[in-house]
Amino acid sequence: MGYVLAIANHKGGVGKTTSAINLGTLFALTGRKTLILDLDLQGNATSGLGVRKEDKPGLASILLDNAPLADVACPCYCDDLFVLPLGRRSSAIEEEIRTQPLLMERLETILDQIAAAWDYVILDCPPAFGILPNTAIRQAQYTCIPVQCEFFSIEGLTAMLKRLQELQASGARSPRTGVVLTMYTATDEHSSQVRAEVERHFSSLLLKSIIPRDPILSQSAGLGIPAVIQAPESLGVRAYLELAWEILNHERQETR
Ligand SMILES: Nc1ncnc2c1ncn2[C@@H]1O[C@H](COP(=O)(O)OP(=O)(O)O)[C@@H](O)[C@H]1O
Ligand SMILES: [Mg+2]
Repeated sequence: MGYVLAIANHKGGVGKTTSAINLGTLFALTGRKTLILDLDLQGNATSGLGVRKEDKPGLASILLDNAPLADVACPCYCDDLFVLPLGRRSSAIEEEIRTQPLLMERLETILDQIAAAWDYVILDCPPAFGILPNTAIRQAQYTCIPVQCEFFSIEGLTAMLKRLQELQASGARSPRTGVVLTMYTATDEHSSQVRAEVERHFSSLLLKSIIPRDPILSQSAGLGIPAVIQAPESLGVRAYLELAWEILNHERQETR
């Protein structure tokens, strides 16, 4: 079975999608067959990987119309990288699952099939957790929570972690959780204050890698090219490389 990494935070704009795209591309470049599962209706991971999302079939088509998984996952940029959008009928998916309980079992089976078909699956979660992301997170071995180095970022983190623990406890696995600071500016006093707060209150969860604020990361997303490919020497990409190794090390420890 592949390793499932969820990137989640109830807050929007904290760097979830940027992390999913760049970590996913790095894992693929190391030869791991990697799927980014874009669980957000907005489809930013899909467009950030240069895939047009309009009218594409996706996870919703697999679940609701029995579309074959292999036909729906979109290859992008390098041999081992794929993205699976929610796709057509995605706005109906939550309601359909709510009203047809059998679809829930089918969703779990599809998520298992996805984990079996790829070495690495990255879940790019939406800011609000509904049935779909909750079910997917329960399958993750690792949940990475990006925390933006800005005011209010820590607010809600305790509640988010509690909710996550409840979800994890109801799943079959015993997953790990890591917090990664994003959009950090060393010269900004406020960034340093947020970092110190997170170190004080969440030290056991805090990952060593810190993602700096780097405009290259947002420019690349706008161009639909992963920064890892467009600007491999940039500070942002170097930080994502460190984070990728940190997460791969956790995986190695678990599978030992
Ligand atoms: N480290 C960073 N430096 C500069 N801009 C960033 C960084 N990470 C993300 N961004 C930008 O911030 C915005 C929100 O990031 P995104 O990854 O879409 O967050 P989320 O998925 O949590 O909503 C996007 O415009 C993105 O390009
Ligand atoms: Mg996003």
